[in-house]
Amino acid sequence: MCGIIGHVGDGDALETLLTGLENLEYRGYDSAGIAVQNGSGIAVQKRSGKVAELKDAVTETSLEGDVGIGHTRWSTHGPPTDENAHPHTDCTTDVAVVHNGIIENYAELKSWLRERGHEFTSDTDTEVIPHLIQYHLDQGTDDETAFRRAIDELEGSYAVAVMFSGAHVLYAARKGSPLVVGIEDDEFFLASDVPAFLEYTDSVVYLEDGDVVVVDEDGVEFTDLDGASITREPETVDWNPEQAGKGGYDHFMLKEIHEQPTSLSQAIEGRIDPADGHLSLDGFEPDTFESVEDVQLVACGTSYHAALYGSLALNRAGVPATALLANEYSVTSPPVSEDTLVIAVSQSGETADTLNALRQADERGADTLTVTNVVGSTAARVADDSLFIRAGPEIGVAATKTFSSQAVMVTLLAQRIADDARGDPPADLESLLPDLSRMPDEIDTLLETSDADAIAREYIDSQAYFFIGRGLGFPVALEGALKFKEITYEHAEGFASGELKHGPLALVTPETPVFAIFTGEEDEKTLKNAEETQTRGAPVIAICPDDHRAVEVADDHLEIPETDSNLAGLHANVQLQLVSYYAADLLGRPIDKPRNLAKSVTVE
Ligand code: F6R
Repeated sequence: MCGIIGHVGDGDALETLLTGLENLEYRGYDSAGIAVQNGSGIAVQKRSGKVAELKDAVTETSLEGDVGIGHTRWSTHGPPTDENAHPHTDCTTDVAVVHNGIIENYAELKSWLRERGHEFTSDTDTEVIPHLIQYHLDQGTDDETAFRRAIDELEGSYAVAVMFSGAHVLYAARKGSPLVVGIEDDEFFLASDVPAFLEYTDSVVYLEDGDVVVVDEDGVEFTDLDGASITREPETVDWNPEQAGKGGYDHFMLKEIHEQPTSLSQAIEGRIDPADGHLSLDGFEPDTFESVEDVQLVACGTSYHAALYGSLALNRAGVPATALLANEYSVTSPPVSEDTLVIAVSQSGETADTLNALRQADERGADTLTVTNVVGSTAARVADDSLFIRAGPEIGVAATKTFSSQAVMVTLLAQRIADDARGDPPADLESLLPDLSRMPDEIDTLLETSDADAIAREYIDSQAYFFIGRGLGFPVALEGALKFKEITYEHAEGFASGELKHGPLALVTPETPVFAIFTGEEDEKTLKNAEETQTRGAPVIAICPDDHRAVEVADDHLEIPETDSNLAGLHANVQLQLVSYYAADLLGRPIDKPRNLAKSVTVE
């Protein structure tokens, strides 16, 4: 997730771009840059770091003009360096580009362009766009044709804005990444999101996938990629500035819960070959994991639950795996060999406990890999390899979208490790992949139709809240309870459903609702365990598909779609995130900043 902005028309572009980028920093903040049409060409200023650092660095005289583009970055390809910051240009700085999304075919395009003499200065996927445009310009086409041809050749997702030297016009296109147009008399804006320009105008047009816009000082032309005119009506937004930063939601946590369809799409994008289901994970060569004999996953908190999810997926795929709490790793001291792969799962990549475990594993001779959200984080630098979950920044202290993306990535990674190490792709993959590609849309529907707020209201006066699940439902039960306790401050516990009878059942009363997660793995046993709590008076809330037998038995029901059992728990987890959120809201808790907790725990 990155943020882009563009400005054309009356008014100073520099001020608008910098303010806009500050308002978009929630989308990414590891590097920032702007390009302005300054009368003698395109002037670019960009650097790693936050927008404030860019602001300190700009020398206003060279960046005076009324047409410009800007970008704030959340790295996906290449670390946060000055070179990798946007805008990117062609060899001659005749074309400047800002982009949010992922160009899946960038490696092919890059080598094709290299063969034709183009030299690249960054590690990004984006840099192929200005070079591709330059290539078409060199063939004698005009700016607009070169832009449209280049866009047509891109595979993947993009919201892209392009500026040509000397032309008072911006070209932009959208596919799979958000892009909005703002209109105010003689001033026009392009941005990833409305807060970028809300202080200048509340009149916006939300672009659709496939839309191409041409913006100059006379107005905005809406077309499809072939240039055929289309109609897009402006809408008026009525957000106040505080709501705008949260995308209109009351809290970042709710916004981030709703971002999951997008963050999951980004996590999967370009990583699965639709032809043979082969998983290409960020440039890992074929057979990278050939010699892996066993896997240890280390993590803390919510990331530990994702690690547990991954260890189950690995074991099922035939690879011995254990998930360990990173803060217990030094005392547990599990044996490692040179064929052990240690995977550190960490949203921030900065958790001290997880980094310690990673370093110990390295010292003891294991291969190491991190699954993280932050390119350039310490974990990414310490580990031998990294796999980025591409969830974009998460501001709410309680992890939501990063958990689902981590769990999906470790599930895919498990399949890939098993494929490399065992020589044949696990059978699971065939049913998993189609359901995985449906998952973002299904979560969208779940979010629209969820009864979680009514359930939260119904049980808000309870004494304690229990979460049970089996198989992949177990880490989700733990995660459901962790989320609930951290943001509501109420007592919540997660159990493997079969464990209830070995002790926790003593806690169960009519005042302790039990959330039972059904993932299609020995559901009849989970149902029996849930009924045992019901016999003791506890209300049971079943989280399962609509036509599941548990619906008849349970007191209440939260629906998830029929899906592969590797994914069902993650749908259930979204329902549980919403229950926690609405319960915390009813209790008036400071949801985005629960007491005593920090987003990144950098002390042991
Ligand atoms: C809970 C939560 C924490 C983190 C844990 C590890 O909602 O966010 O439990 O999961 O502190 O953090 P990372 O993933 O950054 O290593």
